[in-house]
Order: sequence, then C-alpha cells, then structure tokens
Amino acid sequence: MASAQAVQEAAITGEKKKLWGGRFTGATDPLMEKFNESLPFDKRMWREDIRGSQAYAKALARAGVLTAEEAEQIVEGLGKVELEWEAGTFKIVSGDEDIHTANERRLTELIGSVGGKLHTGRSRNDQVATDTRLWLYGALQDTRGYLADLIKTAIDRAELDVDVIMPGFTHLQPAQAVRWSHWLLGHAAAWQRDDMRLRDLMPRVATLPLGSGALAGNPFGVDRQFIARELGFIGGVCPNSMDAVSDRDYVLDTLYFVAVHMAHLSRWAEDLIIYSSGLFKFVQCSDAYATGSSLMPQKKNPDALELIRGKAGRCQGNLAGLLAVMKGAPTTYNKDFQEAWQLMFDSVDTANDCIRIATGVLSTIRINPDRMLAGLSPDMLATDLAEYLVRKGVPFRETHHISGAAVKMAEDRGTTLFDLTVADLKTIHPLFEDDVLEVWDYNRSAEMRDTEGGASKRSVLEQAQKLKRYLGAEGL
Ligand code: ARG
Repeated sequence: MASAQAVQEAAITGEKKKLWGGRFTGATDPLMEKFNESLPFDKRMWREDIRGSQAYAKALARAGVLTAEEAEQIVEGLGKVELEWEAGTFKIVSGDEDIHTANERRLTELIGSVGGKLHTGRSRNDQVATDTRLWLYGALQDTRGYLADLIKTAIDRAELDVDVIMPGFTHLQPAQAVRWSHWLLGHAAAWQRDDMRLRDLMPRVATLPLGSGALAGNPFGVDRQFIARELGFIGGVCPNSMDAVSDRDYVLDTLYFVAVHMAHLSRWAEDLIIYSSGLFKFVQCSDAYATGSSLMPQKKNPDALELIRGKAGRCQGNLAGLLAVMKGAPTTYNKDFQEAWQLMFDSVDTANDCIRIATGVLSTIRINPDRMLAGLSPDMLATDLAEYLVRKGVPFRETHHISGAAVKMAEDRGTTLFDLTVADLKTIHPLFEDDVLEVWDYNRSAEMRDTEGGASKRSVLEQAQKLKRYLGAEGL
C-alpha cells in the first residue's frame, strides 16, 4: 500500500473544489476518486438529469424560491448544457463525480452563481432516483415496442404455417402430434405474460421521488404534483420521502421482469437449437443469425440463439446481485445503491438487444415440414387409439391398457401400430371396428383437440386472434 500513500500525496496539489466540499479539508485519494465516481456509466442519463433539473427549477420559481428570470436563466442554461452533450462537446473535468455534479458544474460555468440556486432543497438522493426512473421509463417503452414486434412476428408465422404438423414433446420425448404454430404461439403466450408484467410495473417506475430532499422532505414547498406532470410521471409522486430515497424496487421489478423474460427467450432459443441440430433439421436459421466453424466446413451454428440462452444467465445474476446489495442497507440512501445502475443498464440493454435479435431470427428462420412429419411416429397416436374406445363407452382407465396391448403387439411383431389390421385389434377388444383406421392420421389427432388452447387449426387460429386483440387493446 506504499503506492497508495504516494498517490495520496500527489493528489494534494491541484485539488478542485467539490460540490460537497465545504467541511472537507484533506484531498481525496485518487484511487478513492475513481472508486466513488459513477459518471462513466451514469452519464448516459444526461438528458434525464437535465429534464429533471429544468422541471425542478420551474417548481422552485412557482414556490417563490427563484424569480421568474432566475428560473428562466437556469432552464436556458441547462438547455445549453444539453446541446453540448448532444454535440459531443461536453467536457468532463476531474471532480465530476456523477452526472448530477457534472451537469450542475457546467451550468454554473455557463450562467454564473445563479446556477448555484438550482439545488435548493434538493439532494442527489432524490435527484438520482428521479433521473433513473425517467431513464428507465423511456427505455422500457422501447422494450414494450420490441416485445410487441416479436409477438406480432410469432402471430404472422403461426398463421402462415398453420397447416404444418409437428411432433410435440414432453421430457423431450416425442409425445403427440401438434402444430408448429401451436408450439410457436405457446411461446408467444409466455411473451404476452411478460408484456403484462412490464405494463404493470411501468407506473411504479414512473413515480416521482423529487421533492423528497435527502430524506426528510422539501422545506420550500415545491409542488411535487406539478413536477410529476412536467416529467410525465404517470404513477404520481412517492408517498413518503424516506422511502422515496430508500426505494430501488423499480429497478428490482425491472430486473425481475428481464430475468423472467430472458428465461422465456432462452427456452424458446433452446427449442430452436435442438430443432436446428443435424439430427432434427426441423428448422434452419438464416445466415444472418448463424456462424460457421473455423475448423469444420459443414457446420452452421445457431450463435444468436446460444447467445440469448447465455445472456439469460447473466440477467438472472443481475437480479440476484441487486437483491443482495439491497437486503442489508439501512433505511434511506446509502452509496451501496450506486451499484444498481450498471445492473439496470446491463439488463435493459441485454433485453432490448435479445428481443430484437429473436425477432430477426424468427422472421427469417426456414422450417422443414417434411422433417417435422418424419419426426412423427405411429406410437404417438396410442392415446388416440384409447380415445377411440372411450367414444364407444369404454372407461379411459381400461382403454389405456387396451391401447398399451396394441402397442405391445406391434412391438412384438417388429412393426408399428399402422400395420395392425382391424382383425388384429379385434382380438384385443371387440369394439374395434373398420373406422378405427381413421385414427392413424396425425392431422386428425391435432384436429381432435379443438377445445380452447388446443392443437386444432381452428383453436390455434383463435389463439392468434386473441393475441392480436390483446395487442390492439394495449395500443401496441
Ligand atoms: N451517484 C450517486 C448514486 O448513483 C448519486 C447519489 C449520491 N448521493 C449521495 N448522498 N452521495 O447513487
């Protein structure tokens, strides 16, 4: 640690005045300076920080703390800071600890000491919670749009290929004949739940902490409802100033939403990875979302899908990480909370990327109906055979055994159910008649499942219609 002492001494000279510097006489260890700063990642909220400050300046004017001209100067000055960020000319200087200090420092350089009135009654505690909520609300609106595109793509492809029959699996063992579109809309159903989760958490994100001060509230009577309206906080204002600076549930809710949605995308991706393998060949990813092997010329790897599956793991870690950061923190603000932002940015960015990549994969994937048909086998109709007798009044528990006996008979002969004659079947049960041969039809099997949610064409198309109605009602 000798070097730490050396850097500490080196730091004594040329120390800039800090925004919170009043009672501090010693210089900060440069390593501590880096350790403490959040600007490298929170600077992406420059726009939200400026919008929050402009609304706050107006509220201060309405409360009589600033004159109209002072508020005007501040709002305009902030507009100039905004232009600098937009043009890429904003210069970060040492001592710019986070986006809040950086913007205020620049504002004061531009408009002089009146800039120092902006922070009256405000703390970075209510400021950072406001900025991040504003940022998140905007980012999640994008997420909702991307998710709607993904669901629409699933609907389109389901309708287009509604006649394609595919083996459905349980335990990854071929189970019953379903439709490709049924499988696809099954995933879309999970994505719809994700969208509902997202819709429900958005007003909780867009609830205003500003006007809570450091923890005890605002002593200058700013109108918090006014600020909420100015900033488009549809959830109103946080009801308790101590909770307002303490609460990171809006980030946890988001990380949970992302973790669950990514788990859904990951399972969808996993199915397609299996279906695209050389042993299945049910689907083929387009070149746009696959890569080759540096060694094996024949390989085409579903990298996009594998990356989605991998990133789902990281997003789960982000949720677990923030829960661990929060659980022991004493009430109100603690610097631990600064750890939330990288997790938040990472999860939201990852979700937004993955949803768009998934949409690209799904809209360009080629399906191979012949291979899907080839994946079906007569034993997958054993349940249908049992159901045949159920319709003739035999209790299902019995028909299950009877059908099992037919499967065994075929197996013993080294053939399939399709090769058993009606006479063969009659030896197992007298109620088998000529029409039993109609059972050996995969399409019929899917069509029989015509209840809401089932595999029949009518039912699958109805599922697509319901999803469309949902999106329409949500304005998506
Ligand atoms: N960069 C800080 C954060 O993200 C801002 C709040 C700082 N507040 C404070 N009391 N030091 O948490």
